[in-house]
Amino acid sequence: MFLQNKNIVLGVTGGIAAYKCAELIRRLKEQGANVRVIMTDGAKAFITPLTLQAVSANPVSDSLLDPAAEAAMGHIELAKWADLLLIAPASANTLARMATGMADDLLMTTVLATPAPIAIAPAMNQQMWRAKATQNNVAVLNERGVAIWGPAQGEQACGDVGYGRMLEPNDIVAQVVAHFNTDQQQLLAGQHWLISAGPTREAIDPVRYISNHSSGKMGYAIAAAAHKLGAKVTIVSGPVALSTPSGCQRINVDSGQQMYDAVMEQVRCCDVFVGCAAVADYKVAHVSEQKIKKTDDNEQMSIQLVKNPDIVASVAKLTNKPFTVGFAAETQDVKNYAKGKLQRKNLDMIAANDVAKQGQGFNSDDNALMVFWSDGEQQLPLQNKQSLADALVLLIQQKMHG
Ligand code: PMT
Repeated sequence: MFLQNKNIVLGVTGGIAAYKCAELIRRLKEQGANVRVIMTDGAKAFITPLTLQAVSANPVSDSLLDPAAEAAMGHIELAKWADLLLIAPASANTLARMATGMADDLLMTTVLATPAPIAIAPAMNQQMWRAKATQNNVAVLNERGVAIWGPAQGEQACGDVGYGRMLEPNDIVAQVVAHFNTDQQQLLAGQHWLISAGPTREAIDPVRYISNHSSGKMGYAIAAAAHKLGAKVTIVSGPVALSTPSGCQRINVDSGQQMYDAVMEQVRCCDVFVGCAAVADYKVAHVSEQKIKKTDDNEQMSIQLVKNPDIVASVAKLTNKPFTVGFAAETQDVKNYAKGKLQRKNLDMIAANDVAKQGQGFNSDDNALMVFWSDGEQQLPLQNKQSLADALVLLIQQKMHG
């Protein structure tokens, strides 16, 4: 239970995603949090106060001028009680009202009165999210230190597709856990995480190589997320143009064989291995010592390739293997191929990404993952790689401990 005795005031505002709040409250309570709910009038059009009262096991507050509430838990008490004020879903109207400092209902008054950190999970139509006014409001809130979690991308209730979906309840809980752990606890203290990242380069001759489009962003984000939670982190990195996340150790390699050697040397003292690198499946059988010359009579040339050692599968074969997480980069039938790799490579978990989709996967700032383990799966929707990595690291931690 990662949120034992944490007091969370959940502000629910008007939007179709409000129906997911019952699930969100259950997940927060499962982690040990105490939850008190404030609903706006708009929220009550989508879900009843009675439902949220039943799942939170606390009376729901919805009125600023309620003598009964003021005698018990009025807005100032609620504001002081909170360790975190979380607004989910946060509508476009709510963002605008927060940005201008309105104080005309219970939620807005609590926003102004609370000394606690504030986080919002926006949810709205994708065009409304992209609107300049909304983006200005987000920038203002961001500057004031409000944490912005999401939104995720995907199909919306209105039929549009784009950014605007509220993060799934599990992903919001992961953010809440990360929030409290970065502030107060070192959840991964004492653990050593080994992470492979970036591409490999398989030499053809002294000036040419075979490689791929991996930038290392996903692997480095995982390293930063694990280090933020207190883990000792070593990155075995292919050639990338990124700086090393602060506090992490980095070992540079070029080829798949070098990556294999470095990982096998480091892995014995590790608790977790995450194979995020895009390792070339094949290397050149005979690397030419000199630059290969073009000749007039050769219209074609062939290069013989042989298999590289499979790093993640070798780690998973070790007797005292760490919790071993692979990635799967697929362009079709993502679920089946990923589940096949999970089994064949004897992994504890696999995170699959659809690298055929625009705006995610190789060399982009965003990504989405479908994560599988032996008896379960979870979707982590499209978001920036750092918040995705935060959620993945927490998921790994949860599954490591059953
Ligand atoms: O680096 P970015 O630009 O941020 O992009 C991120 C990413 C798309 C590279 C990343 O999210 C990702 O998918 N990494 C795995 C890429 C890959 O090689 O997938 P695969 O399906 O071919 O391999 C499956 C697993 O086996 C991976 O964990 C891979 O690291 C591992 N493998 C593969 C071959 C090999 N010889 N040794 C391995 O360990």
